[in-house]
Amino acid sequence: MIRHDVLIIGAGISGLMTALEASKTVDVGVLSKVHSVRSHSGAAQGGIAASLGNEEEDNWEWHMFDTVKGSDYLADQDKVEVLVREAPRALIELEHMGVPFTRNENGSIAQRFFGGHTRAFGKAPVRRACYASDRTGRVIMNNVYDHALARGVKVYHEHFAFKLHLDNRRVTGVTCYDLATSEVKTIHAKAVVIATGGMGRVFQTTSNGNVATGDGLALALNVGVPLMDMEFIQFHPTGFHGLGVLVTEAARGQGGILRNDSGERFMERYAPSIKDLAPRDVVSRAILTEIQEGRGINGKDYVHLDLTHLDEGVVEEKLSEITEISRNFLDIDPVKKPIPVAPTCHYMMGGVPTDVNGAVPEIEGLYSVGESACVSVHGSNRLGCNSLIDLVVFGKRAGKTVADYVSSIDWGYEPEYSGEPMISTLLNSDGGAIIHEIRGEMRKIMTNNVSIFRTEESLNNALAKIRQLRLMYQDIGLIHRGKVHNMELREALELDNMLMVAEAVIFSALNREESRGAHSRTDYPERDDANWLKHTLVKNVNGGLEITYRPVTITRFHPKERKY
Ligand code: FUM
Repeated sequence: MIRHDVLIIGAGISGLMTALEASKTVDVGVLSKVHSVRSHSGAAQGGIAASLGNEEEDNWEWHMFDTVKGSDYLADQDKVEVLVREAPRALIELEHMGVPFTRNENGSIAQRFFGGHTRAFGKAPVRRACYASDRTGRVIMNNVYDHALARGVKVYHEHFAFKLHLDNRRVTGVTCYDLATSEVKTIHAKAVVIATGGMGRVFQTTSNGNVATGDGLALALNVGVPLMDMEFIQFHPTGFHGLGVLVTEAARGQGGILRNDSGERFMERYAPSIKDLAPRDVVSRAILTEIQEGRGINGKDYVHLDLTHLDEGVVEEKLSEITEISRNFLDIDPVKKPIPVAPTCHYMMGGVPTDVNGAVPEIEGLYSVGESACVSVHGSNRLGCNSLIDLVVFGKRAGKTVADYVSSIDWGYEPEYSGEPMISTLLNSDGGAIIHEIRGEMRKIMTNNVSIFRTEESLNNALAKIRQLRLMYQDIGLIHRGKVHNMELREALELDNMLMVAEAVIFSALNREESRGAHSRTDYPERDDANWLKHTLVKNVNGGLEITYRPVTITRFHPKERKY
């Protein structure tokens, strides 16, 4: 049987950072359901936040204040403090590893504006986002990947993990299958790290790559681990209209302006002090309101992101990727014409609850990092650029902690399991329900009922329909039965995971009767600290879902009305 001291599921930046750190002392394997460098971190564009102060004065306390206020006071402040205090050093380490950040003339790492990042506790925007043009995630991920390989981390490309093994609430390993051959492999591990990213593919329009199907969240739910704050789904204000592909917030950080059909800079009405640089929940609601009230471009479902007043060199050099995408896919040159944009599902604030070292308290030897984890530093709304820094800071911490843990224990029992029957049952399934039809229906239901604005009615509707789809799933039939790179087989497993996680999202959203951050209930339009300043935990209990709560840790910043 294959063995690794530590087995990481997911090869984005957080998984690789964990691998890199742990591999200093122990043996590490990484499973990735795609070729590892196609992990979704590679799509992160605009920047990584750290209060380096390379452009103007900045400090970790201001970064902390912005993150807590941006979270609508739901983030745990002790954990935010760890993140923002460690961020500058983490950036310097990336620099020393050779990440090719964009530079100022004096050689320092260049920084730019991003939504919700301010100086002096909200006085004015501050340039806190370090970047590499608009492919920041790509350059960090490639760099960390190279370092991890150089250190001997074993990466299993195109291996899909579908079962987590436990012995008496202690992790013993994972069963996965090789997409190239459908061969099933059980891997014995002393510790397992879930680093599988988000679940944006549950929605019709998303900036997420097609890997983002909530697989790790489903693994956790299946072994009785709760998920925290799943109702908080972030819609990035600017996806390319019709594609959902991200148009980085850095476009507004560099001076881009959102305009409605009459050319009005409408963010002046919604966030008079920081306008287009307001946090994402505020800007996405504003765009949707403009559209719903008939001020979308030509009355349609998008607005314009105007970069035409910017220096051409800035657009070409600092926004090179979105400029290329716009020219190639929309036939629009952003130097000359505004880009049609609309909100797109981008990020999940919730996930597997962990401590600041990635440990999942319910199960010995289980860890989680990155978007699949909920530390919680983003609360109900994450600020742009705080995700990449979360991946690096908490990935590294988890790597050190998991290495110490596995060094202190014996191997325990080997998992006894063959996943072969499950895979062959799926390959031979001949029911009447078609995977891509259920998947399409799920996305429609989620988009129509569970996106930026929600109500009890829309959520009840979604819950009933997703439950129906889960029943239909029991009767699927695969059209393709081959064992070599059978994408339908992978999609069958993903669909099961997505439906399970979608139900957890809806259930949590229905339960939270207030509006906070990205969770906007039009039937409960106010934030309600007296009843809802608490984290939601949703868990599988006897085949149904159950909600419990956890208090929010408040240290420095007492909740206030959130104005921008
Ligand atoms: O807009 C962006 O470039 C996205 C950044 C982020 O989600 O942190």
